[in-house]
Amino acid sequence: MELADALNLADLEQIAASRAPTPAWDYYRSGAHDEVTLRRNCEAWSEISLHYRVLVDVSRRSTATTVLGQELASPVVIAPTAFHCLVHPDGELATARAASATGTAMILSSLSNTAIEDVAPQTQAPLWFQLYVYRDRGATEELIARVEAAGAQALFVTADAPLLGRRERDVRNRFALPPHLGVRNLLPSGYEELPTDRPDSGLASYFQDLIDPALSWDDLAWLRSLTELPIVLKGVVRPDDALRAVDAGLAGVVVSNHGGRQLDTSPATAEVLGPIAEAVNGRLELLVDGGIRRGTDVVKALALGAGAVLLGRPILWGLAAGGQAGVERALGMVREELDLALALCGCPDLDSLGPDLLHPGAGV
Ligand code: GLV
Repeated sequence: MELADALNLADLEQIAASRAPTPAWDYYRSGAHDEVTLRRNCEAWSEISLHYRVLVDVSRRSTATTVLGQELASPVVIAPTAFHCLVHPDGELATARAASATGTAMILSSLSNTAIEDVAPQTQAPLWFQLYVYRDRGATEELIARVEAAGAQALFVTADAPLLGRRERDVRNRFALPPHLGVRNLLPSGYEELPTDRPDSGLASYFQDLIDPALSWDDLAWLRSLTELPIVLKGVVRPDDALRAVDAGLAGVVVSNHGGRQLDTSPATAEVLGPIAEAVNGRLELLVDGGIRRGTDVVKALALGAGAVLLGRPILWGLAAGGQAGVERALGMVREELDLALALCGCPDLDSLGPDLLHPGAGV
């Protein structure tokens, strides 16, 4: 299949699978251990029924919204994912250009193959940065300063990865970066390379050596003291943790299980989003990722209380299938599906989405 023939994200996945080198494809597609959470993330969205409204004027519709104070054309954001140059030579530059062309916010990973200073000029849309906290707190502080200087407008701190989840394909492949690629954001600190001398995934070894497993709630005050940027905690699946994020003065939380790549058998995000939204009750912004593959999934996430969703693997499928054009296609598909779903739900805009659309049982 060619990019022009792709109708949906599953088609893009098929094209990407045929083009990406096997170790890279294994790295992207893997979940932890038995991949129960990886599968559940997708299933859980499809198990929710949409109880659409009828006879609402939907002749004018809008997918526009505001997230972290920034106006977005659509509530679909590019999730932080590592190493875009593994599937396309333009890597994060292509992803950022697609974000710009479609007015989509992009969250750049700490583990990008392209430095924030090179990515930032490629997009006019909001650019946010995902942060891993290194044991070397000085290096972490320098990174945050560079991110702010480069013009990123929010910091997404990953909370669910004190160690890397075990992705068994990566262990078998001894996942490594080709010699010409590195963790470019960490070049100035000397943490650019994944180890290649261990019988394990090179990324798992990198985490073990360098990422700080002692990161705790107490460190949030330190992080807040380093930057004026809004801080969002990524990787929360419990209402009590989301409430601690409120108490810590954070701007938001991403309800996420890291795309099923960390703790296997952790709950699907579709299952925990509603209770978390109820607990935080609008006191911080909620975003969600994990298994979103259709516009109807976006509708369900917003009806459950999220302000935006993050797309991870589908962006990489687009990138592998066609570089910038492929990423634009992936984003365009979901946006078109979202627009159609809004029309068919009787919701002219995102503000009209609510939990009544998801009421369980047939007798609503
Ligand atoms: C990196 O964050 C990964 O999940 O591989």
